[in-house]
Amino acid sequence: MVGSRLVVFLTTVCVTFTFSAIIDPVQHQDSKIQRRTWDEAIAMAKAFVSQLTFDEKCNMTSGVVGPCAGNVLPVPRLNFNGLCFKDSPNGVGGSTLHSTDFSGAIHIAASWDRDLAYKRAAAMGTEFRGKGIHFALGPMMNIDRNARGGRNWEGYGSDPYLAGENAFVFVQGVQDQGVVATAKHYICNEQETNRLYGTSGSIPKGYSANLDDKTMHEIYLWPFASSVAAGVGSVMCSFNQNNGTPACQNDKTQNSLLKGELEYLGNIMSDWGATKTGVQSALGGLDMDMPGDDGLMGYALSPAVKNGTLPQTRIDDMITRIMAPYYLLGQDQGYPSVDTDRNVVQDDDKINHLISSAGMILLKNTNNVLPLNTTLDTCLYIYGAAAGQPDIGFRSGFLPQQGGALYEGGGSGFVNPAYALDPLSALMIKGRDAHLQIRYVTNQYDYNAINESFHGRGCANPKCLVFISAHSSEGYDRFDLHPIGSGDKLVQTVAANCLNTIVIINSVSQLNLEPWIDHPNVKSVLWSGMPGAEYGPALVDVLFGDYNPGAKLVFTLAKNDSDYGTDISKTYDSNYTEGVFLDYRHFDQQKITPRYYFGYGLSYTNFTFSQLDISKASGNGHSALSQFQHRQMRPYTNFGSSGLYEPAYEITFTLTNVGKVNGSEVPQLYLGFPAEAQEPPKVLRGFERVYLAAGESKQVSLVLTQKDISYWNVVNQKWTIASGDYTVWISTSANNADVKLQGSFHI
Ligand code: BGC
Repeated sequence: MVGSRLVVFLTTVCVTFTFSAIIDPVQHQDSKIQRRTWDEAIAMAKAFVSQLTFDEKCNMTSGVVGPCAGNVLPVPRLNFNGLCFKDSPNGVGGSTLHSTDFSGAIHIAASWDRDLAYKRAAAMGTEFRGKGIHFALGPMMNIDRNARGGRNWEGYGSDPYLAGENAFVFVQGVQDQGVVATAKHYICNEQETNRLYGTSGSIPKGYSANLDDKTMHEIYLWPFASSVAAGVGSVMCSFNQNNGTPACQNDKTQNSLLKGELEYLGNIMSDWGATKTGVQSALGGLDMDMPGDDGLMGYALSPAVKNGTLPQTRIDDMITRIMAPYYLLGQDQGYPSVDTDRNVVQDDDKINHLISSAGMILLKNTNNVLPLNTTLDTCLYIYGAAAGQPDIGFRSGFLPQQGGALYEGGGSGFVNPAYALDPLSALMIKGRDAHLQIRYVTNQYDYNAINESFHGRGCANPKCLVFISAHSSEGYDRFDLHPIGSGDKLVQTVAANCLNTIVIINSVSQLNLEPWIDHPNVKSVLWSGMPGAEYGPALVDVLFGDYNPGAKLVFTLAKNDSDYGTDISKTYDSNYTEGVFLDYRHFDQQKITPRYYFGYGLSYTNFTFSQLDISKASGNGHSALSQFQHRQMRPYTNFGSSGLYEPAYEITFTLTNVGKVNGSEVPQLYLGFPAEAQEPPKVLRGFERVYLAAGESKQVSLVLTQKDISYWNVVNQKWTIASGDYTVWISTSANNADVKLQGSFHI
């Protein structure tokens, strides 16, 4: 129904705008935390700067060694206690004690649930704040361009819209606690290989990500733009170069795009060691050198200021930008002192547990083998090292061949878990409580033990759970897309013996499932992702149906590794020649059938879709639209002057749970553009995770903003709305066969 408002309200239908309906920021906001507008904060920062001596100003542009990963010196005579910066996008990182190990960013993205994403960030924010940390070094929003990318688990998958929505709520969740969020790594840090490349003795230059203007705007800049709109206080520039210029001294990306076009008002700090020059970086937009031990900025800038190479106004601007977020979020008023080991963990395990289940994706479920039924499925056989605890403890620098449950990936994003619960222990507890017979082999190289477990005395028809994993870390990219420790052979060995084999994939990002996915005994496949400390109990909930899975893939799973069309560059240039045709956009364009589509995931129940309505967003009277706008607003929100985040169209439809159990679905809005826009066949521009009781219906409302219906016009350098027909598909994945409703509008 185009342009009309034919919406029939059934008695069972109630309007849902799930995000705003569920999120109650007040619940997460301490009323003592003063939040200011950017104008107020900048005025206060300028007043602060006006009281600094020249030397103090220069010094503040560089970090100093201290208790945190990065530190800004105090200025006691101005009652300023300095600033503490600490990782990570997944909780309070480094080697701190008493931190909750939250599910990884890729996992929360897989939940497609903004409400849970907000709550995760808010819970994390309380831990950062409680430990006196001023800047949290996340969100991480580099795109999963390369399936083997070592840091994919720290980000939000392969789609910029999905990454942008996640980044937006992460910023709000953290900053609502008075902690500054840091959007990283700016920009195009999509691989680890050669990020530190350099000739011996020189400052490493890093590989160069080379890309065109449209691709930059529509894919890689998009999530950063969402962070800026959310009001992010800090951005971290990356190790690599962009089109031949180091990211931290790149006038185009930092001054023109970020501070100019996006109207970003906060600071840019360097990644740890990513500054390659001093004066040139300051002129190129860098405000703060981290961790600051390279002597490139700080006092080293003073000669350049004195001789006029670096304008005094630029130094003032740098400090204003460093201090503005501090005032923006009220850190000048009663902020806790720094003690990164302070035990401020509340009951964050509860939300972490829920998120852990909410991000697990059911990929295959032949004959409804899952959920397990404690009356019928009384025998469970469990295989694989990834079922149990890692025998080296919780370590960031996990070697690829080491086994054990994988709660998160490695590197600076790693959170030292206060505790973490493995699947085997949780299944044992379930087995005790439900009177099950459990048998296990966690030495996955002991094929004799695995084969023998099926012979001799045993159950006639056990359900077999096979655990496989794939680890990755900052610092290197994966060697291949297969599980560690001959995981494919493990699955094949178990499947050869067990009629009801259930594979649990504990993986950082994409995996090649082809060696066993079509084996007739592999009945179910559950992607347990990067589940965090509550892994074991959260998995048990999903396996036994206490939690009905509803997560969806945030990348495509290809049949052949070469089908992705993009890969890690081994040279010092990474050429983004695929342009905007990344992941499902590429599979669509090239008509390649993957194993599982982006956005795909099953449930234990079924849904129907009906009554699509597409109407122009006009006026503020409409409740869904005003809720949409309301949920985005904070005093620190920074939509800039472009109007791009204003609603343009509202799409409504009715979703019904027609199955026998409660569950959730994620309707996804894919948009097809007029030819002028030169877009892929379809791009994601909306989604909502909707929870429905068995038999329940809800009317779902998705809002397209002006930006959502625009393309980046490289000629006039503006977001432009193309004239012509737009197609709206409401689907449950990027597979055209999963489209449930189709409509259109004309501009
Ligand atoms: C990483 C950043 C991190 C920083 C501080 C760098 O190696 O790339 O993501 O925030 O270290 O630990």
